[in-house]
Amino acid sequence: MASSSSSTALKPGVHPLTDGPRTTQSMKDDVIHGLSQTPKQLPAKYLYDERGSSLFDDICTLEAYYPTRTEVQILDAHANDMASHVGAEAALVEYGSGTSQKTHRLLEALHDAAAYVPIDIAREHLLAASERIAEAFPELPVFPVWADYTAMVPMPVPADAYTRAVAFYPGSTIGNFLPEQAVSFLKQVRTRVGANGGLLIGADLKKDPDRLRRAYDDPEGVTAAFNKNLLVRLNRELDANFAVDQFRHEARWDAEHSRIEMHLVSQTDQTVQVAGQSFAFEAGASICTEYSHKYTLEGFDALLARADWQRRTTWTDPNRLFSVHYAEPAATEVSDS
Ligand code: AVI
Repeated sequence: MASSSSSTALKPGVHPLTDGPRTTQSMKDDVIHGLSQTPKQLPAKYLYDERGSSLFDDICTLEAYYPTRTEVQILDAHANDMASHVGAEAALVEYGSGTSQKTHRLLEALHDAAAYVPIDIAREHLLAASERIAEAFPELPVFPVWADYTAMVPMPVPADAYTRAVAFYPGSTIGNFLPEQAVSFLKQVRTRVGANGGLLIGADLKKDPDRLRRAYDDPEGVTAAFNKNLLVRLNRELDANFAVDQFRHEARWDAEHSRIEMHLVSQTDQTVQVAGQSFAFEAGASICTEYSHKYTLEGFDALLARADWQRRTTWTDPNRLFSVHYAEPAATEVSDS
């Protein structure tokens, strides 16, 4: 899809929305394909419609969900150090910016960022967050990009307006990719920021499985609502007829792959129609809706290296629950021939 700008009137400081790539494959094809697999699975990106994005914001405030507040603590404690790695007059490009809450702390420490480029698929969330940042930082040009950030996104900032581009990817969203997908995404980010760019990235750490399960199956039931909202979305957008209360949310720890898996487990034998096709579920069969990989520090280092990034610094909290890493493109060998 070609990039263009929308003419929505935005607050001063916010440049017109850049319309980036959003559809690599249709949701219908993805869903039919995923439900035809054994075991059944659905791409996690479809959890984030407007309601899903808002439920995810609620998850981030839960007592059981430690990643957000822990990463914020790390950013608070080390923002100046992070800023010195990012350097002067950088363009900060945030992948999956959401509420831009964490960016706030970083921008405060940066003082002289040349531009902020939030990229998100949830348009209203993106615009609201862009306006909040522009209000808080009146000198900072904000260039929102409405896109599926896993595609190669356009860079809306003129090249002579910044010294280097630094990608910001907090939240351990990298953990929602399979390792090989994570590597190709990180390679793409490296191409986007160029040889003199940088990467500031959050990664959740491996820990007691009970603690992990609780974080993904909170007592308030917000994560369950977030997971089930996917079925509500399919009913609305793909003319499906899931009986939502006939599915139960479950968070499983897969030790072999070091990941939490979110599942929707059928409570009964049932057949569901989706976009004109039938899918049979036996009682106890599930749809896997999300992976959330948890890393050791060495394992994350190795992941970065596979994507041609060299880790320069890592910050963690005192309990080693979460980590934030600063990396730069690994030097590539120059051949004489
Ligand atoms: C967005 N991502 C990093 C969250 C995670 O922890 O994997 C998504 C999430 N799913 C359930 N709770 C949070």
